[in-house]
Amino acid sequence: MEETLYNMKVAIASDHAGFKFKTRISKWLEEQGHNVRDFGPDSEDSVDYPEFAHTVCEAIEQGGTQMGVLICGTGIGMSMAANRHKGIRAALCKDGGTAEMTRRHNNANVLCIGARNTNPAILHDLLGAFFNTEFEGGRHEKRINKI
Ligand code: RB5
Repeated sequence: MEETLYNMKVAIASDHAGFKFKTRISKWLEEQGHNVRDFGPDSEDSVDYPEFAHTVCEAIEQGGTQMGVLICGTGIGMSMAANRHKGIRAALCKDGGTAEMTRRHNNANVLCIGARNTNPAILHDLLGAFFNTEFEGGRHEKRINKI
């Protein structure tokens, strides 16, 4: 089947602080028809978020996986680690508006979320905006090439 915005391979990981959100987000992604690769962790035991960020980004860099989702307490550490990777444009999003704009203008391929500062009630709105919005290209293509 042709891969579309509705049928992507999505790599996901968190740290202990993002573990519960990871479960919710994986379920939502699967319900939307995406193929989810869960890179852990599998419990709320304390772990180091950069290891999980690097694993997800490497999966995208190797090809075949289009998008990533990384969740930690604030989302900041995950976004810092992910953006060390060439070809990764990780965006820390706080709501549907930021998620939509980073897809339209930055062609973000990794969504970072702060589990401790994101209201679970807006999670589906945020995810829908990120995963259902296309990159606009044009002048934005030139700009992301300068990153
Ligand atoms: C873990 O306590 C916390 O530091 C981590 O989840 C994240 O917020 C780092 O940026």
